[in-house]
Amino acid sequence: MSAARIQLQTAREFPLDPQPEASRETAPYAQVIDEICDLNWSALSRDELIDVAWAYYFFSVQFCENVGIARRLYPDDKRLEELDRGERDTDNLSPCTGVVDAGERVDHDEFMRRALNLEAINEIRRRRLLTIGAAYLGKVRAADDATRALSLPTYEDGGLERVFRSILRARRWDGPLLQAFKHFLVGHIALDSNPVEGHGSLCRHLPPNAQVFDLWLAFKQSLVAAAPVLAR
Ligand SMILES: [Fe+2]
Repeated sequence: MSAARIQLQTAREFPLDPQPEASRETAPYAQVIDEICDLNWSALSRDELIDVAWAYYFFSVQFCENVGIARRLYPDDKRLEELDRGERDTDNLSPCTGVVDAGERVDHDEFMRRALNLEAINEIRRRRLLTIGAAYLGKVRAADDATRALSLPTYEDGGLERVFRSILRARRWDGPLLQAFKHFLVGHIALDSNPVEGHGSLCRHLPPNAQVFDLWLAFKQSLVAAAPVLAR
């Protein structure tokens, strides 16, 4: 990104006017969250759940990027600084067998990358999932920085928690990869959900814009592309 573009995207141009709770609940992106939660999570086979974990890895990559973008746009925002401490270079998911040692600090996308490495998949399947992930990241990275920063509360203030609880409806969690994925999901529900100190409370003051819908739709599409049984 050019310096000129960074200069244009300052906190002054994107003032933080909290959206009323009601308008967040009725926003179009909230409908996509409902649709993701309504997917057929309990139908996932073990392999299909691993495919979902791969799709989620790419979500975690863009999420960590979003945190960095938000920090850049709002460098003096102490709540975002605190949120950043909980998402990147953090030991809040440590230890996890085969992924991170006790006290080991990683970004959360690195946690997911290591989790995926716990179980080999064949090359054709890997390429399919990489293609889906690349398409998803391409869509997210085409969004402007303000949209990506303002997406944070839609993820952290209840949205992801609902998605994670839905994924946990899957029935097969055996094996180190899926155990690590479960550790990630359960750990995140705890991190996000505390109404006072949780991650939601640290970014609730950011007002999501209409374009956040596109990011949620891309996420849903990547999940269904990875595991088509979800839409049946
Ligand atoms: Fe979080």
